[in-house]
Amino acid sequence: MPALSVDVGRRLHPLPVRIMHWINAAVMLVMITSGWGIYDDDVIVRGFRFSSFWRLGDWAAWSLNWHFAGMWFLTVNGLIYLIYGLTSGRLHERLLPIRPVELVRTIVDTLHFKIAHEDITVYNAVQKLLYIVVILAGISQVVTGLAIWKPVQLSGLVALLGGFQTARVLHFAGMAVIVGFLIVHVALALLVPKTLGAMVTGGPRLRGRAEEGHAT
Ligand code: HEM
Repeated sequence: MPALSVDVGRRLHPLPVRIMHWINAAVMLVMITSGWGIYDDDVIVRGFRFSSFWRLGDWAAWSLNWHFAGMWFLTVNGLIYLIYGLTSGRLHERLLPIRPVELVRTIVDTLHFKIAHEDITVYNAVQKLLYIVVILAGISQVVTGLAIWKPVQLSGLVALLGGFQTARVLHFAGMAVIVGFLIVHVALALLVPKTLGAMVTGGPRLRGRAEEGHAT
């Protein structure tokens, strides 16, 4: 069976991935905090508002401007990340397969505060699952966002999503998933700072798959 496309000597996080990751981090913060500003103008959960400290934009119209500006960067950057990851085989290679046994073992280990972090070149099953979930949440945010931005032109999409209000709730739920991911993701990056360094410098060079014990 031909080996997946790991070039020997390539860095853990190639430069394009690092650039796209940090653009995404900055743009996500803009999208989340400006989204909170828009939400506060017409809340979904009665009585639940975000403090002005966390909102980007003094009032809803300004938050909308930020949101509309950010969405282009988010969409274009996300599309390039997906095309790059899929065509190079990197996404498949880093995030699959996820074995249920490994998933359960990692969860049990984590609950016992046993977080394996010696070898940062291999994502554990929980990491892989979380990355896949957040990538899907990002795609879902763009789709539901398009539906609530242009509900008349995209009425078919709105109907598919269950109506305008449902699309809005799905958009809000997607934000909650991303914020939940971010809290865990940033906490883990701070707990294992060498992963943070690797996302800046590129990290260690990858060895061939056979040497990593991935030979099939
Ligand atoms: C300030 C905020 C952030 C920090 C400090 C941060 C940090 C990191 C670090 C250190 C890694 C490498 C993990 C490892 O090698 O084990 C990573 C990877 C990743 N992060 Fe973040 N991140 C941030 C924001 C985000 C956001 C907003 C998202 C998406 C919503 C995101 C999605 C991802 C994904 C999908 C990967 C895997 C990338 C790949 O290998 O292709 N990150 N992040």
